[in-house]
Amino acid sequence: MSHAGTVSFTPAELEAETERLFRVLLHVDCTPGKSWNYEACRGFAPLTLEINRLKKEKDAVILTHSYVEPEIVYGVGDFKGDSYFLSLMARESKAKVIVFAGVVFMAETAKILSPDATVIVPDRGSGCSLADSLTGDQLRKLKAAYPDAAVVCYINSTADVKAESDVCVTSGNVYDIIAALPQPRILFVPDRLMGENVRTELKRRGVAKEIITSDGTCIVHDVFDAAAVADARARFPGLKVVAHPECTPEVAAAADFVGSTGAMMKYVKTTSAPYYLMLTECGLVGRLQVETPEKHFIGGCRLCPYMKLNSLEKVRDALAAPRPDQIVTLDEEIRRRAARCIDRMFELAPAIKG
Ligand code: 13P
Ligand code: SF4
Repeated sequence: MSHAGTVSFTPAELEAETERLFRVLLHVDCTPGKSWNYEACRGFAPLTLEINRLKKEKDAVILTHSYVEPEIVYGVGDFKGDSYFLSLMARESKAKVIVFAGVVFMAETAKILSPDATVIVPDRGSGCSLADSLTGDQLRKLKAAYPDAAVVCYINSTADVKAESDVCVTSGNVYDIIAALPQPRILFVPDRLMGENVRTELKRRGVAKEIITSDGTCIVHDVFDAAAVADARARFPGLKVVAHPECTPEVAAAADFVGSTGAMMKYVKTTSAPYYLMLTECGLVGRLQVETPEKHFIGGCRLCPYMKLNSLEKVRDALAAPRPDQIVTLDEEIRRRAARCIDRMFELAPAIKG
């Protein structure tokens, strides 16, 4: 018998779980200094077995953003994807407990949408340079300076900021939703670079809008460099460059495709190229190495220090007996107003897509 926490497993159960993990993770190579070889999978197995048992006991689901380590995504995740998909899953969930392996703003969003569930964030330090760049007070001041503007917040924002906004957007629907709003002036927060990309895209579509932004950026995406893209293209003929809209407009212009992490995955899965350069967090490359092992990814991606605070141990501990700091709580009035702004996104997004 082996033990993980208070749960014990037979050698056969451990061997079967190790085998299951290894078969999924054998092609992964997305975090420098880390390995997903058989030995590593043997190390993950007691934890994934324990977490999967705890999930049943506690009536819990685990939502995993694609940027967290693949042993979490594929070992214990019930749903994996981008912010839009995971928000939908949180809203539809009937589970008593939602563990969000992502960052704090994502767990807050789950609590906004599923207020009766106990929502757990494995590491309270898992912030986001975008969400942390703007407070509700700062947004109130900006709104006073632009009273006629529609206030659009990127989902990477605090509950307070969402409560002050008219509509929320994600990287997957930002262009369509802003284009569909009747107001000619948009106050878009908190991502300055995404705001610049919106400006360019709406101009290309012939949609006249004035886009005013606050000054946040994503510390992972704001450093990709268009000169490095040109260099990679020269070294890898036929290369496809895939970027997230949190990158600079120069990088977005140099890419073959720009979209949410979900759309980036779809693009890779549905195109054929000898090499791909993924200008985003490297966890997405891990997912693609699992799901498209025949494709080749060249270097370029970076790690989000906040997403990487998640671990199987923290998920297990939070599920077994969450500390108060791991349980998301929100003022009910803020939650209600923030829910209105996210619901507006759900009203607008399917209509645009459909
Ligand atoms: P996606 O919604 O595209 O997954 O983006 C989330 C994020 O934090 C990107 O940095
Ligand atoms: Fe925030 Fe950037 Fe990390 Fe996404 S990758 S969670 S935007 S810091």
